[in-house]
Amino acid sequence: MTTQHVSVLPQETLESLAPQPGQTMVDGTLGGGGHTRQLADAVRPDGKVISLDADPRALSRCRGLLEGLPVELVHSNFRELRTLVEEHAWPLFDGILLDLGISSDQLADSGRGFSFLDEGPLDLRFDDAKGESASDLLNRLTERELADTIYKYGEERASRRIARTIVQRRQATMNWTSLQLAELVASVVPRSTKNPIHPATRTFQALRIAVNGELDALELALRDFPNLLKPGGRFAIISFHSLEDRLVKHAFRDNPRLKVTHRKPIRPTDAEIAANPRSRSSRLRVAIRLDDGDIEKQPFINAPKRSEWHR
Ligand SMILES: C[S@@+](CC[C@H](N)C(=O)[O-])C[C@H]1O[C@@H](n2cnc3c(N)ncnc32)[C@H](O)[C@@H]1O
Repeated sequence: MTTQHVSVLPQETLESLAPQPGQTMVDGTLGGGGHTRQLADAVRPDGKVISLDADPRALSRCRGLLEGLPVELVHSNFRELRTLVEEHAWPLFDGILLDLGISSDQLADSGRGFSFLDEGPLDLRFDDAKGESASDLLNRLTERELADTIYKYGEERASRRIARTIVQRRQATMNWTSLQLAELVASVVPRSTKNPIHPATRTFQALRIAVNGELDALELALRDFPNLLKPGGRFAIISFHSLEDRLVKHAFRDNPRLKVTHRKPIRPTDAEIAANPRSRSSRLRVAIRLDDGDIEKQPFINAPKRSEWHR
């Protein structure tokens, strides 16, 4: 098997994580294995990369591609990393990478609904053995809940109109397909001349984030992963939309155990965008784990995440 995925910000990510021979790194989002390969090349012969993906197909694809490299592949959501560390008694890591969202391989897999240009069942799960598909979500949520989901995770201003049309249409449609949803959204959201993205982009993003619990996983990672790093260890996150980038920016800045390396996110060069248009919206943020001796007594370490405040 091969991969179509071209890693974004490859050089910048490598320089930011600065892997050295003998180190142990975690790639929480294996995808097509490009970043894992770079890290594994840098830490060998004695180091290793532990690479996770929630999508079992990403692991099957990479197994052959990464043969001979010091890589341990684990089928898991990265939200489980802390549990895995406890179960396997893994020591603290030298670096952790998250390259969020979906890969080009997932986008090309028309049986899963990730692309609104190809016909296929509207599933949108990284792991179709777990949780609820996007089609089931569309059939289950109330009109209000649908509108809120599309607004919150897609920042889609036409969310109410889209939700109303979905609810009107769902008597006739039980098993939604990607093209049905894309056409429905296009029929209620006018194409903007200023913004050339497909009108269904934001709705698909919202449903994908919802079915995979993507922002919850990221919040958990932002809270837990700094504690899984050695002092001097690096945490690098590549995000693709402002919802994720905002969470990363604030969590890095507010964590007393972290020192942010760049005030502004690292962006792809024009040459990279021309060669790999998918990189256009990528933003890399990096933070270094401080030595506990460098930290003044702080009440915020391990603070509960926002959604747990009032429980
Ligand atoms: C953008 S791709 C990663 C590409 C990879 N860095 C490369 O160089 O090929 C994102 C991958 O992360 C996986 N993923 C997204 N969120 C995840 C999560 N919470 N836990 C585990 N895997 C996740 C997706 O299934 C997808 O394969």
